[in-house]
Amino acid sequence: MKKIKLFDPIIGVDEKRSITKVLESKFWASGSGSGNVFKFEEKFRKYLDANTCVAVNSGTAALNLSLSLIDIKNCEVILPSLSFVSTANAIILNGGKPVFVDVDPRTLNIDPEKIENSISTRTKIILPVHFGGLPCNLEKIQSLSKKYNLKIVEDAAHAAGSHYKNKKIGTHGFAVCFSFHPIKNLAMPTGGLIGINNKKHKKIRRLLTTRRWCGITDRNKTDYNVKEIGNNYYMNEFSAVIGLTQLKELDKRNNIRKKIAKRYFQEIKSEAKMQFDKDCSYHFYWILVKNRNKFRKKISEIGIETGTHYRPIHTFDFYKSKINLKITENIGKSVVTIPCHPNLKENDISKIIKSINSLNYNLV
Ligand SMILES: Cc1ncc(COP(=O)(O)O)c(C=O)c1O
Repeated sequence: MKKIKLFDPIIGVDEKRSITKVLESKFWASGSGSGNVFKFEEKFRKYLDANTCVAVNSGTAALNLSLSLIDIKNCEVILPSLSFVSTANAIILNGGKPVFVDVDPRTLNIDPEKIENSISTRTKIILPVHFGGLPCNLEKIQSLSKKYNLKIVEDAAHAAGSHYKNKKIGTHGFAVCFSFHPIKNLAMPTGGLIGINNKKHKKIRRLLTTRRWCGITDRNKTDYNVKEIGNNYYMNEFSAVIGLTQLKELDKRNNIRKKIAKRYFQEIKSEAKMQFDKDCSYHFYWILVKNRNKFRKKISEIGIETGTHYRPIHTFDFYKSKINLKITENIGKSVVTIPCHPNLKENDISKIIKSINSLNYNLV
């Protein structure tokens, strides 16, 4: 039996053709980001309508680098615990302290009503995660950012192509971080990107491009200088060229995801499921189940792969704290992510819905 995969990137003819071209060019890497990397940054900047975009080699690198723009040493950053661990690691790596806030059980995004209580004199940033691609309530977050003079850095790893109030996700805060990991809506071998919305974007771009390649600056032919520390975070040419094709197809493929999500929303017989929102990119679709291990085992036997996004970050040994995040902890035990990608056939979607409904004694 062929399993229905949870994630499954589309490989088109164009991707194959462009990869061969890069392979034969022998120009595979460019720390300074010329060639396809620069083209991708420009196309993505136009797509977002951001001031500048800087491509890097992962969503993790995007988070690490974008937080380096704001001095958060001994300062606090507010974020949800229901995310991939990179979101919090980036804060620690930049000398800050993560302050976790509970999620809204209807969206699984950070609960905007609970943020204000966690703001202190040491808070510098609010870092929302658009969970599964569903846009957070940015209006509320923006008003808190104004009131307390905080920067907004968005984790949009799931949200390439999502919208909030008719504008692309990635244009509402100071910085936005995307991941182009192979399972993401825009898939590359590895990749990420920082979008910047700030009038000092030229200076910020210079900082970011220097820091993404080992601090190298003032390049003049083979000569260069190093004035500050940097990392090896640059995007390779294979990723960039695949990204160029994937970007052309992103809206079309996201629309397919939306159609699938609409069917799930209408046909899965449970209240405990992801809502339908035409502005969501549906990186995945989630449901809540009572006996998760049993449920996942049964559905796997039927040939359907599922996931558990995420074990809450504050429950990992490194992050363990006495903080009470009741909703996040309950979600962490009951969430199941189901396939929602454009490679699914109508038969697959029907099978997923039918299987979930037939196991309905386990739905929350
Ligand atoms: C919410 C979130 N943030 C950050 C990342 C990190 O992205 P990458 O795997 O490209 O480093 C991921 C990737 O899984 C993610 O899901």
